Amino acid sequence: MTSKSWKQAWEKAHKDAERSLSGLKSPEQLEALRLKSLGRKGSLTVLLKKLKDFSLEERRGLGGLANRQKEDLSARIEALRRDFGKRGWQEKIEKTDIDATLPGSSAAAGRVHPLTLVMEEMARVLGRLGFSWAEGPLIETDYYNFEALNIPADHPARDSFDTFYLMENGKPSESILLRTHTSPVQIRKMKSSKPPLRIISPGRVFRHEAVDASHAAVFHQVEGLYVDRGVTMADLKGTVRVFLESLFGPRTRTRFRPSYYPFTEPSADAEVQCIFCAGAGCGVCKRSGWLEVLGSGMVHSNVFKAVGYDPEEWSGFAFGMGVERFAMLMLGIPDIRMFYQNDLRFLEQFK
Ligand code: DAH
Repeated sequence: MTSKSWKQAWEKAHKDAERSLSGLKSPEQLEALRLKSLGRKGSLTVLLKKLKDFSLEERRGLGGLANRQKEDLSARIEALRRDFGKRGWQEKIEKTDIDATLPGSSAAAGRVHPLTLVMEEMARVLGRLGFSWAEGPLIETDYYNFEALNIPADHPARDSFDTFYLMENGKPSESILLRTHTSPVQIRKMKSSKPPLRIISPGRVFRHEAVDASHAAVFHQVEGLYVDRGVTMADLKGTVRVFLESLFGPRTRTRFRPSYYPFTEPSADAEVQCIFCAGAGCGVCKRSGWLEVLGSGMVHSNVFKAVGYDPEEWSGFAFGMGVERFAMLMLGIPDIRMFYQNDLRFLEQFK
């Protein structure tokens, strides 16, 4: 092919393409034209490829204009494609009853429940101290909920857990129940892993309780368990103090008072100075200046024996608390029932 015949071929192909461009009726025709002239085997593409057979000088003479024309054509094809797209929409809009000029309705975004927020904050703080998240079943057996936690059948502590038993053959079961605390997760975790151990078990618990402003039959607890060699009461106090100061503020005063739990010995309840009256005494702290927020203690040797840990070798501490109680104090909520009424005016206040 001589440069002259190339030029003629190009001009014809280009002119053909330009001419077809003006008579197009559909996006399909447009695409056909694009393929015919600019596609991989399109007339213009093929000619441009042939340029390489010419001398540098010839290439310069022919290539500059040809390339500009090709770019120009492809820009116009692109513009037409957009135009067809718009026309397509317009036709669709005109054919329907939808008034596209009306403002749209915005999708309501969900948010995290305040109890989840507080539970996650607790887990975050304890996570920094090396505790990892563990879960267990809501339906438990007498063994995990009581027996292994050093609460045998005749133990008076059972009275303090008003337990829901599941029905079995039309009668309340003697051994299958809704867990009354998250402590059974301690047992499950210790049975399934070797010490040392550092876990928290957050979750839902159930008690046959008359519901009022501070009691619910379904509520949440977070439990902590630390087992290692040589763990002492000082470790317990340090951990709980850091935890409470992280949640209630660095200036929070804490204290421990002797208490009793069957699964810990000794046991202690942790209290924070009332965050509402700074210890002066008010309605929330019942004039005492202090708020009891958590139960704790050194893991009882009977509990270690139940899970097969040697109490001579291992020691540990445990602590447990109600998430609702913390949330009420941290967020200033006066009635526990508000968490469960699903009133959006209430829920929307927490982020
Ligand atoms: N399980 C106890 C309850 O529900 C709370 C508790 C107290 C858990 C002391 C503990 C603990 O781990 O050491 O009342």
